Amino acid sequence: MTQISRYFQFNLLTKRNRITMKFLGLVLTVTFFAVIINAPRVARPFQTLEELYSSLDSLEIWPEVFKLRESAEYVYSGREISQEEYVQNLTRFNRSNQPKTIVCHDLKGGYLEDRFIDGSSASDSYGFYHWSIIDIFIYFSHYLVTIPPYGWIQSAHKHGVKVLGTVMTEWTEGEEVWSQILSSIEETEKFAGALILLAKHFNFEGWLLNIENDINPDDIDQLKYFVQYLTDGIHSEIDDAEIIWYDNFFDFADGIFVNYNWTDTGLLSSRSIAERENRALDIYVGIDVWGRGCPGGGGFNSKEAVEIIREYNLSVAIFASSWTYENFKGQTFELLEDIFWAQLTPYMYIHVPIYDNEVFSTSFSHGFGEKYFYSGDDETTTSAFYNLALQEPQISVPNYQLQFTFVNIPEDKEDREEDEELLEEEVPIYKFETPFHRIQTQGSNIIIEKKPDQQINSIQYFNKYSYNGGGCIKINVARPQYYRLFLMHLKHNTDVQIIIIHRSDKKNYIQDNYRTNYPVVVVKNNSTTKYLDPYENFQLNSQWVQSCYFSTNMETINELGVIFTTIGSYYLGMIQIYPLPKNFE
Ligand SMILES: *[C@@H]1O[C@H](CO)[C@@H](O)[C@H](O)[C@H]1NC(C)=O
Ligand SMILES: *[C@@H]1O[C@H](CO)[C@@H](O)[C@H](O)[C@H]1NC(C)=O
Ligand SMILES: *[C@@H]1O[C@H](CO)[C@@H](O)[C@H](O)[C@H]1NC(C)=O
Ligand SMILES: *[C@@H]1O[C@H](CO)[C@@H](O)[C@H](O)[C@H]1NC(C)=O
Ligand SMILES: *[C@@H]1O[C@H](CO)[C@@H](O)[C@H](O)[C@H]1NC(C)=O
Ligand SMILES: *[C@@H]1O[C@H](CO)[C@@H](O)[C@H](O)[C@H]1NC(C)=O
Repeated sequence: MTQISRYFQFNLLTKRNRITMKFLGLVLTVTFFAVIINAPRVARPFQTLEELYSSLDSLEIWPEVFKLRESAEYVYSGREISQEEYVQNLTRFNRSNQPKTIVCHDLKGGYLEDRFIDGSSASDSYGFYHWSIIDIFIYFSHYLVTIPPYGWIQSAHKHGVKVLGTVMTEWTEGEEVWSQILSSIEETEKFAGALILLAKHFNFEGWLLNIENDINPDDIDQLKYFVQYLTDGIHSEIDDAEIIWYDNFFDFADGIFVNYNWTDTGLLSSRSIAERENRALDIYVGIDVWGRGCPGGGGFNSKEAVEIIREYNLSVAIFASSWTYENFKGQTFELLEDIFWAQLTPYMYIHVPIYDNEVFSTSFSHGFGEKYFYSGDDETTTSAFYNLALQEPQISVPNYQLQFTFVNIPEDKEDREEDEELLEEEVPIYKFETPFHRIQTQGSNIIIEKKPDQQINSIQYFNKYSYNGGGCIKINVARPQYYRLFLMHLKHNTDVQIIIIHRSDKKNYIQDNYRTNYPVVVVKNNSTTKYLDPYENFQLNSQWVQSCYFSTNMETINELGVIFTTIGSYYLGMIQIYPLPKNFE
């Protein structure tokens, strides 16, 4: 359009000016295309059917996506993990008989800093890393077709979590969209085909379908045909595909997401209907962390709703857990996120990633941070970064030590309504305590007070040091204890070498010739526990030490953790497990 109107303007000018202007136009055009070429690659949604169909031949190419990591057939119970008493042998539960968990991302319409395929420098953006306790991640927004950005797919897949995009229609516009899609078999199959193509092209597992508008009653049969066609089609094209309907069409899809305003009787009846087909676990009961219509009012008290849902042995869909970020404007986000999930962990199931004769390696990085460190070197750090695709495997045991020891919620305010008109003094005050903090929230205000140093053991993410990426794991040892880090199913045909890169604030840590301060590595399979001392230690650049361990004769490693036998603060920068060449001496 602008090109054409500029052309017409040129013709009104004198010949000389025309030449100058043409030259200027050329410069502008060249600049315009140069900007396009250099423009960062971004994920974007489709707003109309026309936009969708006209883009299918020229979809952007993203960097390679990890294949969804396989998980073991068994899961561990979050309740057992978060018990105060240490459980030596964790019970294995058959994964296909346990309730599942969806997290539905919903942050200011999505496509914020996370839309950049190659990352951004906004390190204070929202990220997620509690992958071990969720099964499906949905990227949600109010566009017609929402494509999950690259970083989300990459970090979820690394941890064995499926990713879904969203199809959403609302209002009369939505009615029109569906009357076009359902107008003929060809149109219906065209739309379903486009959705399958998008999931295949961008490497995610399927779709949440959210129709909020009315559908012409004459089209209902055609809509059923659409759901069936899409579900069958995507399963034949994509391993582990998943189609979830919001409040509808359970019979044809893989699962259903039940509206937030459920009641106990509602849950019971949904359950008994689904049980007839042995599909109770495919009902995901919605809870809204902003508190709309949920028992307990959501927020840090979301546990109350989750507890009820799990009493009925149903799956749960947690909507907008980015509340921990958005409500508090991103301040102390990682701590608030850890506190939020610590309350829910007892109701979650930890799925177990399979490593089949592969190297396991992690620097623990969340994929964002104030600095990116290379090989632990403070000299070669770069500035702030945000790139979830760079997230490294996260510890599989959530920070359950942050479970509340005290909760005070004003009685009558439990069912928090969306009433923004409240006077400030009427906004209820919630009080919580963890073993480490006193917390008071009032609306979007939060005060976190650290309890005086209590000499308690703790393990947390720490972003001031890092070996690679933006953070590391900090372990405070007040009394020696085993720290469980990874639950895994690592199969190997040979012996393995384990490398741990660590540091401490202790004096002379690096020169520690007696090694009494260095980590003991604990590896377990389902019948044996081994305690490994390093056979070799050496100093790396800056303050980090590398220790090497052998583990022999264990055909599987199911669990890996560390013990520090002297009190102090320690930092884990990296853990790697390498299969050794056969006959390695
Ligand atoms: C897990 O449960 C499913 C469904 O009940 C069953 O088919 C499968 O054999 C079980 N797996 C194991 C390892 O027991
Ligand atoms: C939940 O909300 C939906 C639509 O907003 C309404 O139709 C339904 O009756 C509500 N259910 C309950 C149990 O309040
Ligand atoms: C949920 O499952 C547990 C253990 O399998 C069982 O004891 C309990 O009765 C179930 N609850 C319901 C409401 O089905
Ligand atoms: C231990 O692992 C082996 C190999 O995976 C399996 O055959 C065996 O059943 C497991 N034993 C227990 C008690 O889980
Ligand atoms: C854990 O399992 C192993 C092997 O099955 C067994 O020898 C040991 O006694 C168990 N430990 C506990 C505390 O149950
Ligand atoms: C567990 O480790 C023991 C001791 O190294 C070994 O004998 C056994 O075969 C291993 N079992 C599995 C299932 O990995």
